[in-house]
Amino acid sequence: MTRIVITGCTNGIGRSMAETLAASDNHLIMAVRDVKRGHELRHTLTRANPAAQIDVVECNLASRGSVDTCADRILRRFGTLDVLVNNAGTMLRQPRLAESGYELTFATNHLGPFQLTNRLLPALTHDNTARIVVVASTTHYQADMDFSNLTNVDNYSMMRAYSRSKLANVMFANALARRCADTNVRVNSLHPGSIATNILPSKSLLWRTIGRTAALLGIMKPAHLGAATPLYLALDDHAADLQGAYLDEHQIPQTCAAQASSVKLQERLWDLSATATGSSEEPNG
Ligand SMILES: NC(=O)c1ccc[n+]([C@@H]2O[C@H](COP(=O)([O-])OP(=O)(O)OC[C@H]3O[C@@H](n4cnc5c(N)ncnc54)[C@H](OP(=O)(O)O)[C@@H]3O)[C@@H](O)[C@H]2O)c1
Repeated sequence: MTRIVITGCTNGIGRSMAETLAASDNHLIMAVRDVKRGHELRHTLTRANPAAQIDVVECNLASRGSVDTCADRILRRFGTLDVLVNNAGTMLRQPRLAESGYELTFATNHLGPFQLTNRLLPALTHDNTARIVVVASTTHYQADMDFSNLTNVDNYSMMRAYSRSKLANVMFANALARRCADTNVRVNSLHPGSIATNILPSKSLLWRTIGRTAALLGIMKPAHLGAATPLYLALDDHAADLQGAYLDEHQIPQTCAAQASSVKLQERLWDLSATATGSSEEPNG
């Protein structure tokens, strides 16, 4: 039995992953922002798969306290883990700062997963091979990790903030893969494809229309296709030896953006993230 933590299972790609995993012999731990919806989903999944082993843990990735509590609960209740999928993500129309003072998309999509991963790493470091999967995006190719601009929302652009957070995802995965090189832990990132989910801001008529039109034209694919690559990295034997790879939606390794490959930039981001989240200890350090 494989014990898997997935963040953001209440919608889209994460929910599709949860549906697939519930139907197989895995122990699924759903780390969700909205626990009520998490329990409703658990109920739906266990009704369809009575033997499924599913737990729900609250986790708001935008809140340092919530991430810490979530990690504490998982470590206390479950001990060891085999897979962590950092799937949850957001795209925000309105500029906002998180309680940490960082731009909210960056805080949710990068700082929260950084903190959760570092907290759960001891549970993933054991005799068997463990895997950490980071759901990033091709938008990271267009992004710039403008370090001087992470704590203000002047001249905010939704796509710029989102792409930057996805660049941070790939940088983090690469930096962690390097740190885990001599361990049992494999760390990889991916682009899931253009998938029709709730990630486009639904309150905006423009984005709603773009999303619906793209889905109708087949430009945006259904959620189960978006789940294919994270599931491949999480469980497939063919992915067992991948370390520090960035996969496209066809499960093919691709060269990531130059900034994502830069060790210097990765380390700068790591230091900043460790300070922002209080995750000062190095893995295995
Ligand atoms: N869809 C695409 O075309 C596409 C393309 C490239 C990459 N991605 C990536 O794929 C991942 C999944 O996105 P999706 O498309 O499936 O979007 P989605 O349908 O909007 O699902 C996002 C999930 O993340 C959760 N989430 C949002 N903010 C959170 C927070 N502060 N704390 C904890 N969970 C939070 C949401 O929870 P709630 O239900 O509570 O809102 C939801 O379960 C994201 O990392 C996204 O960047 C998507």
